[in-house]
Amino acid sequence: MDVGFPKQASVKRHTVSQLLDTTLVGQEVTVCGWVRTFRNDQFLSVNDGSSLENLQLVIDRDNTSEALRKRLNTGAAICAVGQLVESQGQGQATEVEVGSLEVLGDADPEVYPIQMKRHTMEFLREKAHLRFRTSTFNAVFRLRHGLQFAIHEYFDQNGFYMLHTPIVTGSDAEGAGEMFQVTTLDLDNVPKTEDGAVDHAADFFGKPANLTVSGQLEAELGAMALGKVYTFGPTFRAENSNTSRHLAEFWMIEPEVAFNDLTDNMDLAEDCLRFVLSKVLERYPAELEFLAKREAEAEKQLPVDQRNEMGLIERLRFVTENPFVRITYTEAIDLLRNSKPYKKKKFKYPVEWGIDLQSEHERWLVEKKFNQPVILTDYPAKIKAFYMRANDDGKTVAAMDVLVPGIGELVGGSQREERLEVLQKKCADFDIPEDHVWWYLDTRKFGTAPHAGFGMGFERLVMFATGMTNIRDVIPFPRTPQNAEF
Ligand code: 4AD
Ligand code: MG
Repeated sequence: MDVGFPKQASVKRHTVSQLLDTTLVGQEVTVCGWVRTFRNDQFLSVNDGSSLENLQLVIDRDNTSEALRKRLNTGAAICAVGQLVESQGQGQATEVEVGSLEVLGDADPEVYPIQMKRHTMEFLREKAHLRFRTSTFNAVFRLRHGLQFAIHEYFDQNGFYMLHTPIVTGSDAEGAGEMFQVTTLDLDNVPKTEDGAVDHAADFFGKPANLTVSGQLEAELGAMALGKVYTFGPTFRAENSNTSRHLAEFWMIEPEVAFNDLTDNMDLAEDCLRFVLSKVLERYPAELEFLAKREAEAEKQLPVDQRNEMGLIERLRFVTENPFVRITYTEAIDLLRNSKPYKKKKFKYPVEWGIDLQSEHERWLVEKKFNQPVILTDYPAKIKAFYMRANDDGKTVAAMDVLVPGIGELVGGSQREERLEVLQKKCADFDIPEDHVWWYLDTRKFGTAPHAGFGMGFERLVMFATGMTNIRDVIPFPRTPQNAEF
């Protein structure tokens, strides 16, 4: 067997995915990838990211040097040329009888951290630069790609325009004040005004700026002319919450539609979710099956009442086939106050009209009471953002949150306040100076119209679709408090 770089490699490479079925059987093929395992000095299992499955390369033991075989360690990059044949062994349709093979990059087994055993998710998070090489992350990130592709597909097919909203902005859309400041001021020598405040006139933009928490306000401006728009961009929140569902940097899908009311908005969220989940069910069956098995395996460690009643694929099917439950916040409070955990004082946080629902309350509703996605609407105005449309009762707003089992809030949205005077009053109530949002108010001065939209947390969607239980494991490089490695 030749040792040395296969000359044919520069001619035409095949992907593992292409070589796994029998179409190319009988041909000479070139394949490059990373070693997963090397068994019996003969069977080399290789993955190149093009599929979840590995390709088996069969090496002629008698015609390869021991020196070369010793280098075929897990993680090494190789390139091989050989004949694609139908596999004699079980577990694969095809295999490559290797004619020549070269190690492009070694991976010293003494120090290469990703071995062919089960690693914990925590361990792999610290090796986020290499965890793509595991089957779990191969499946998760290919599904993540599939989901984002399906989202663009959905909106494109439904007449939406993708609008790139700014990442650096002067506005705080959610009014929650959890923003990362953006400045070029010298922090060791901050310029001050006469009264001792930071002199933002000297800053890059001549005023305070921050990373966006949401593209909504700008998307609304687009919707008021283009009709249907969406933005799908990175958003940033400096909330110091170290939970399995929060990131400091996450991606959000935000559609905004002129002339839609709250019911249209709920229909859109359901339809969109159903579409993207059915697309991945159709396109990624192997990945979903792998993740479903993985989840079932992981759940064996949990007490029975904490396991999912349905498997991953069943859950996704269920969502694509059943309408979501729709109830008002007020109805939810009643249900909660009549619930067993409430009566037995098992909830940590109080349940009364006017409070923001805690995750324990949301979980009871979606996982215990209904065991399916629930849309809660018409929240108290005081606990929601200034832009939500005031209902006639004077207490609630036309808000909606979509809650899903295992995740909690996946979508937050509302019909927007389109009446200028009501919005101006809201700005005053929420201490938002009108001259900060003059451009937003302008759309209510010139051709105002009812409109509605929502934000879907993309990583929470990926969690739901993959069954992964920690949000840090569905984004390549998570940003969380005290952590911005890689
Ligand atoms: O409910 P939120 O804060 O809504 C908005 O930002 C609106 N401006 C959206 C709109 O109407 N256009 O966030 C929307 C969604 C949440 O439901 C959640 O899925 C996700 O974004 N999200 C987060 N995901 C990960 N980490 C965080 N820290 C998140 N905060 C919100
Ligand atoms: Mg929300």
